[in-house]
Amino acid sequence: MDYYKEIFKRKSFHFFKERESISERELADLNEFMKGLVPLNPQIKTEIRIVREEETTCKRGGEYCILFFSEEKGEYLRNVGYIGEQVDLYLASKNIGALWYGIGKTEEKIEGLSFVIMISIAKMPEDKFRKDMFKAKRKPLSETWSGDTLGVGEIVRFTPSACNTQPWVAENIGDKLLIYRYKKPGKRGIMPADKVRYYNKIDMGIYLFMLEVCLKHENISFERELFEDNTDDSVEKTLIASYKIVR
Ligand SMILES: Cc1cc2nc3c(=O)[nH]c(=O)nc-3n(C[C@H](O)[C@H](O)[C@H](O)COP(=O)(O)O)c2cc1C
Repeated sequence: MDYYKEIFKRKSFHFFKERESISERELADLNEFMKGLVPLNPQIKTEIRIVREEETTCKRGGEYCILFFSEEKGEYLRNVGYIGEQVDLYLASKNIGALWYGIGKTEEKIEGLSFVIMISIAKMPEDKFRKDMFKAKRKPLSETWSGDTLGVGEIVRFTPSACNTQPWVAENIGDKLLIYRYKKPGKRGIMPADKVRYYNKIDMGIYLFMLEVCLKHENISFERELFEDNTDDSVEKTLIASYKIVR
């Protein structure tokens, strides 16, 4: 699976117009693919279930919703973001459009696990996917990356995030890449602060996966170290990961 290529093609389908049907075969392939997802933390139990979109509160015209469940322990939100982005990119490779849908709810329950987030999906014509990623709206590179970009900074900034908040900052200090969850001081948007933190922790998992795909594409070897993210809202930058560049 060439994840890198799909970074340029993926986009959020906020509404699935002119959708086609996902075949039984494609669903079976998706289920097979999802058996091989790589978590950030294998100690955290997760499960994924696919239901029809009508069985959720999501009304975006998708055919199915992929529901992510997890044990609520450690950095489980980040972990779900990391595995979910593998699914998002896989779907793009199969011309299945996707929408990470944070506000969605489901009646579906799995004993011992909590529902975390869903991705709504539908088969879409190939020409509906992103044609020029560089036209997508994002913060300027200088706001989210400092130091040498390694050919990575200018791509990873297109990572998707809840409400396009892009809550990340990367600092390349030479032999290490430091990754922070960023929270603008004092800024209050339309979402309550605890919700923002919840989604942004998922976003950071998505970002870490994208970052690793880009590093591998540039043939940069690394050793990853993860840190717990339990600062309160007064903290602007929370260090969540460090990548030692191995030369
Ligand atoms: C964790 C997460 C939650 C999201 N929740 C919603 C949502 O509830 N509703 C929605 O319309 N879009 C949602 N999005 C989609 C984002 O708005 C979108 O990814 C972002 O604006 C970047 O655009 P792009 O995905 O087309 O590159 C979510 C994205 C992420 C990563």
